[in-house]
Amino acid sequence: MHFTAVFARISLLCCLLFLVSCGEQEDYPKLAFEEVAIIPEPKSIEAVEAQFIWPAELSYFADSFAEEVTPFMESYFGLNSSFTVQRASNSDAAQLKIISDNTLEDEHYKLQIDNEKINIYAKDVAGAFYGLQSLRQLLPAAFEADQVLDYEQFALPGLSIEDGPVFQHRGMHLDVSRHFFEVDAVKRYLDVMAMLKMNRFHWHLTDDQGWRIEIKKYPKLTEHGGYRSETLIGHYNDQPQKFDGKRYGGFYTQEQIKEVVAYAQSLSIEVIPEIEMPGHAQAAISAYPELGCTGESIDVATKWGVFEDIFCPTPETFEFLFGVLDEVIALFPGEYIHIGGDEAPKARWKSSEFCQELIREQNLKDEHELQSFFVSEIAGYLNSKGKKLLGWDEILEGGLDPTATVMSWRGVEGGIAAAKSGNGVIMSPTSHAYFDYYQDDSEDQPLAIGGFLPLEKVYSFDPIPSELNSKQAQLILGAQGNVWTEYMTSEKKMQYMAYPRTMAMAEVVWSGAKEDSEQSYPDFLRRLKPLLNRLDVMDRSYYNPLQKITSEINKEDNLRISLNGPLPDQKIQYRWSNEQAWIDYTEPIMVERSAILEARFEGQADADLVNFRQDFTLHKGINATIKLDKKPHPAYNSGGVAALNNGVYGSKNRHGDKEWLGFWGDDLRVDIRFETPVKLNSLKLGFYHAPGQWIYAPTKSQIRATLADGRAYNTTAMIKKDSLSNVANEVFGMPEEMITRIRIDIPNYGIIPEGKQGAGNKAWTFLDEIVMQ
Ligand code: ACM
Repeated sequence: MHFTAVFARISLLCCLLFLVSCGEQEDYPKLAFEEVAIIPEPKSIEAVEAQFIWPAELSYFADSFAEEVTPFMESYFGLNSSFTVQRASNSDAAQLKIISDNTLEDEHYKLQIDNEKINIYAKDVAGAFYGLQSLRQLLPAAFEADQVLDYEQFALPGLSIEDGPVFQHRGMHLDVSRHFFEVDAVKRYLDVMAMLKMNRFHWHLTDDQGWRIEIKKYPKLTEHGGYRSETLIGHYNDQPQKFDGKRYGGFYTQEQIKEVVAYAQSLSIEVIPEIEMPGHAQAAISAYPELGCTGESIDVATKWGVFEDIFCPTPETFEFLFGVLDEVIALFPGEYIHIGGDEAPKARWKSSEFCQELIREQNLKDEHELQSFFVSEIAGYLNSKGKKLLGWDEILEGGLDPTATVMSWRGVEGGIAAAKSGNGVIMSPTSHAYFDYYQDDSEDQPLAIGGFLPLEKVYSFDPIPSELNSKQAQLILGAQGNVWTEYMTSEKKMQYMAYPRTMAMAEVVWSGAKEDSEQSYPDFLRRLKPLLNRLDVMDRSYYNPLQKITSEINKEDNLRISLNGPLPDQKIQYRWSNEQAWIDYTEPIMVERSAILEARFEGQADADLVNFRQDFTLHKGINATIKLDKKPHPAYNSGGVAALNNGVYGSKNRHGDKEWLGFWGDDLRVDIRFETPVKLNSLKLGFYHAPGQWIYAPTKSQIRATLADGRAYNTTAMIKKDSLSNVANEVFGMPEEMITRIRIDIPNYGIIPEGKQGAGNKAWTFLDEIVMQ
């Protein structure tokens, strides 16, 4: 007999139990109920007054799931040579039982631990597997590797878990074209997904920089298209761009693809292959130039971006693509084939006589409708083979095929439109799901594409936009994190970018969006801590948010900065530059000088580790009131207008931190007012300039200052761009008279010119601190 009770009531008892067992017995790990930390968070978890002693040899019985779960049971629970598992011949003899229960929903499970046994109930293999994954996260982290342990048993607390996923698509994506990852690296990626109960692996297999899947009918796709002559080094925005001069590439044979698909299946993961079309096809066209509209020979791309050579929609191209898809379909048993569809510039189609004739013949309006025609042809083919088409949200342009499922990446708007027209949707917006963006705003982060997506923001994601009614909301099948690997030159770096943001996404898609994510985030971090220990044992690299001190600058009377650690009760110390003594942080620090503030956690193992660094530049504009005539874009407004005069510059390497404000396509007017007139020598503006990300410094800005005696002072400056920096600064001379008000007009750069990334779209303006001296 045992009773269940809520955690708060039982925890005291558990502690007592813990102390007693500590005193009486030899030392071995004992997990207390309050230490239970499972990601993604289970639906319900209750304490049971019991303790299960896991023996050196554990017997298990797996009911009707035996065939599917035995490999995981034996490879995982028996990996550690100090502990083994034995399959019992019948249920009664087993300590761990996996029991078939048809009353449960798909993928759901129950996990019960008492003094004598561990029971997992599930209807299907996936549910049984997920029960085992929750159990896994209760075991010592040492179980993640074959280590010799100095204990022969350990204790688990009694508990009862009932659990199941909110979303059916719980995905992670991996780009293996920009950088190639061997089969074992892909398996390691799948292992972590499985631990987190993620069930869809989106394998981005083809792109401009390399074709990575063997197609027997078209061998040149990998023989030629699998390799590029060299690779861009440094950032795309660096001028001049630099290359490494080294041939790079690789591909998976069909046997290797089958091996990965089977491995994924053993982890209850479905693999969704992505074969990009009609854009991002330069590697394929390089192998078979007749697939492009010009027929000219081109190289496999050696740098990142969007390229104009796309598949030409000729009968020969469709025959080729159907041939490729036939082999892809045979390799991937899942329901979806992803056909890309994103970022397909129409320049080649516009100048192709064939395409123009096809547009007339099919009564299409323009090249966008031609893309829609292209996607429909492919959708029809896939449907005829029993597969569903999945594509990026550009497949909406020119009309969406009714059978297609949309992956919304340029925000959630594409997903909203698709759901409203009755199509299935997977959410993967840049704002919350692009793990190639920076995750930390400090300067020492490894080079990334740009942007800023901290862990907490991933954790706060709600895949269901409020614009949808409940019926439309059901079409949101789930969400996924995307790992684009332009800047991930090694598996370690790829893991560093993927983890722990993958863990936050796993929680979003399994447990659903949090009602108040700010409030529940500290508990997520608490649960993350032991999971990161697990990654250590697994020898995975990751970014550690638990070492991050965050700050907030408040400007009400004086400039003050408050510091926060990620977990409660972490003591912080700080010092100003050049001062040796660390001071205990107890309240917001007044900023009274231009200097660097450093902070660290008290008593951390690495005494030299500085967890926070902030450079302040004080100036006469700090107390001014600034107003803008346009709101910054919501994705680039985390610091708000206060960021323009808080004494802190934005990063020179990324535009996504809270010090940069971003405006898309708008001219901007800044109005600065001084309560008491000030005398200024100069006013400095800073703009981000990163054409690869569609961000352009304006070509000029205009200032009109109102002097205290009512006269006006006007000046205009052309903005000069230093080709070595991403930041364009301009210093305006000021009249050295008392000023009450300044108006700054900042015209947007305009439409991005031909030949540049994003040509034809509006440019972004990014504005930094306005320094008034
Ligand atoms: C994408 O990021 N181009 C889908």
